[in-house]
Amino acid sequence: MLNLLENPLRVGLQQQGMPEPQIIVIFGASGDLTWRKLVPALYKLRRERRVPPEITIVGVARRDWTHEYFREQMQKGMEEAHSNVPLGELWEDFSQGLYYCSGNTDNPESYQKLKDLLSELDEKRGTRGNRMFYLSVAPNLFPEAIKQLGNAGMLDDPYKHRLVIEKPFGRDLASAKSLNVVVQKFCKENQVYRIDHYLGKETVQNLLVFRFANAIFEPLWNRRFVDHVQITVAETVGVEDRAGYYESSGALRDMLQNHLMQLFCLTAMEPPNAMDADSIRTEKVKALQATRLADVNNLELSAVRGQYSAGWMKGKQVPGYREEPGVKEGSTTPTYVAMKFMVDNWRWQGVPFYLRTGKRMPKKVSEIAIHFREVPSHMFQSTTQQVNNNVLAMRIQPNEGISLRFDVKMPGAEFRTRSVDMDFTYGSFGIEATGDAYDRLFLDCMMGDQTLFTRGDEVEAAWQIVTPVLNVWDAPSDPMAVPQYEAGTWEPVEAEFLLNRDGRRWRRL
Ligand code: BG6
Repeated sequence: MLNLLENPLRVGLQQQGMPEPQIIVIFGASGDLTWRKLVPALYKLRRERRVPPEITIVGVARRDWTHEYFREQMQKGMEEAHSNVPLGELWEDFSQGLYYCSGNTDNPESYQKLKDLLSELDEKRGTRGNRMFYLSVAPNLFPEAIKQLGNAGMLDDPYKHRLVIEKPFGRDLASAKSLNVVVQKFCKENQVYRIDHYLGKETVQNLLVFRFANAIFEPLWNRRFVDHVQITVAETVGVEDRAGYYESSGALRDMLQNHLMQLFCLTAMEPPNAMDADSIRTEKVKALQATRLADVNNLELSAVRGQYSAGWMKGKQVPGYREEPGVKEGSTTPTYVAMKFMVDNWRWQGVPFYLRTGKRMPKKVSEIAIHFREVPSHMFQSTTQQVNNNVLAMRIQPNEGISLRFDVKMPGAEFRTRSVDMDFTYGSFGIEATGDAYDRLFLDCMMGDQTLFTRGDEVEAAWQIVTPVLNVWDAPSDPMAVPQYEAGTWEPVEAEFLLNRDGRRWRRL
């Protein structure tokens, strides 16, 4: 059989073949990401026979659990979060490949114990020394975990040992750089998979196909035809039980610097020379390097933060962010952020990109909307209620699809026009385009394909753009300085101004 680990192919976005048997070591295995997303994604791959039966998972965390207890917890998680997935005999077999190793991130003995367990499992399960180390611990523990893994010799083989790092990668430019230094000390870049689960979403990958497999859009994709671009990721959930993490992160670090900026890159970048990891990631880096805040000397014209206050969601009263359990009194952590970027290159000069994301918004919706320029002369102005520009909206989730808004003549003797949407929905394929994306990302990592992962220079380029804002927002400030928006409503009024000032407004979704 072709050994993809020893002969990594540049397979680009096309998954081919079956990965080698391997052990996936999840650090932070007692956290909810493991039972909610990671183990279910691996089980899905097993059910779909996209991974060999030898696949083995080792959970690592501080708690003193046994292998059996870990298996029970994962089963409970499956039953709770994925009750529609059949378990049965296949789960029995799969769960025999779940192991647990308790340990402390900073204790070398824990890593020795882990190393011994992994060698034992290689013998028992036939995993041939292939390992994926998945860091799902608190971000401040990443450097220590990498150092310890490296010192224990567990990252030595660039083809058999892979390192997956959850987001956020660093807290700002300086910390991302120093984390990259640690990573580069112990790993080659081809071993490193900085994960951003948005890149695993079908609709996000489709952006590349839409842009580069269709001849009619690319000629319009520039400053001559595009007025501005809006990228929205709105969520209805609040901070839930994650205040511990969220308080030190906030919407900018949690969502904008990674998920939204990935959407931005795929929208703004130039066509890559080829659909392989390096060509695509190089174009993303170039787009980021050309990007800046709209006005670096006056941050208010470039960035707005907000925080949800108490309100109503689906007929239920919900607390404000500051009343959520675990949130500090008078916290200034933003749960909403909007930014205006400008891209200084031939394609985009003068075209603003507005990005916004928030929790406790009225609707869960993620989309990229390309707003085209107005027609040069409004011949039909008297016949329309309102002059609407053409808008191409790529809906990432839910109701995944693409729609193009244009004006038509209303039937009848009068000459009246109206805007309509031409709509494509993924639902029409009869295949689900949603999903958590982790299965796709796991498989790519097992196959050695880094296309959907962020490169070291890319993550730094993204931090470079937003760090001036963080420097101001991280400084102690009066809680009153953080604009509030009621849970269940759209952005704070300050964020409206960000666009109104330019004679534009946010799309109402
Ligand atoms: C995560 C953030 O990365 O993405 C969460 O940490 C957020 O705060 C989540 O809720 C949103 O992901 P999705 O796939 O539901 O849009």
